[in-house]
Amino acid sequence: MTSEDRATRLRLLQTEASTCTRCPLHEGRTTVVFGEGNPDADLMIIGEGPGQREDEQGRPFVGRSGQLLSTLLERVGLDRSEVYISNVVKCRPPGNRDPRPAEIDACKGYLVEQLKLIDPAAVVTLGNFSTKLLLKTEVGITRMRGQAYPWWGRHVVPTFHPAAALRSGARVVEEMVSDLQLAVQVIEQPASPAPVEVAEVREPEQIELFT
Ligand code: URA
Repeated sequence: MTSEDRATRLRLLQTEASTCTRCPLHEGRTTVVFGEGNPDADLMIIGEGPGQREDEQGRPFVGRSGQLLSTLLERVGLDRSEVYISNVVKCRPPGNRDPRPAEIDACKGYLVEQLKLIDPAAVVTLGNFSTKLLLKTEVGITRMRGQAYPWWGRHVVPTFHPAAALRSGARVVEEMVSDLQLAVQVIEQPASPAPVEVAEVREPEQIELFT
């Protein structure tokens, strides 16, 4: 697919998502926060869901978590404009509560399409929701982070959500930097099939992703 086709198809998908009523989150949203960045990115970053600032502005990660994310990206030599940033759910859960399984399920198709169109070499999942969704695991982020997982011919690198770093401080920040460095490194490496010893990480169902 040419770069132009990719950008066009992402725009069409965004237009479709902008009037989405697939789950009850549409009732409370101001704007659908579809995602933004480089349609040809080697690295895609997936958060949880929009907060208040994101809902107001229609852009992902523009609040305090977003400022930290931009700083962390700079520390590993990346500008926000080079990557593509999105979320598991595209509409703000009321009061910033966790997204519910039915909401994640209803929104999943948009994320799958984004992943297919952008086709990044590496995906950084921020926090439990995106990590669990992609890697189909119940293992928490503290144990999952620190390594890259082969995932449909690409790499998934789980790390903490920036909100956790804002709460917990320097140690978590440094671990996030190290995870982002790992993500930058693995971009150049071919991804092998999932190693057998990662028993807790079940392969994603092919019908849902990359059929
Ligand atoms: N937190 C997220 O998970 N996503 C955003 O876009 C903003 C904050």
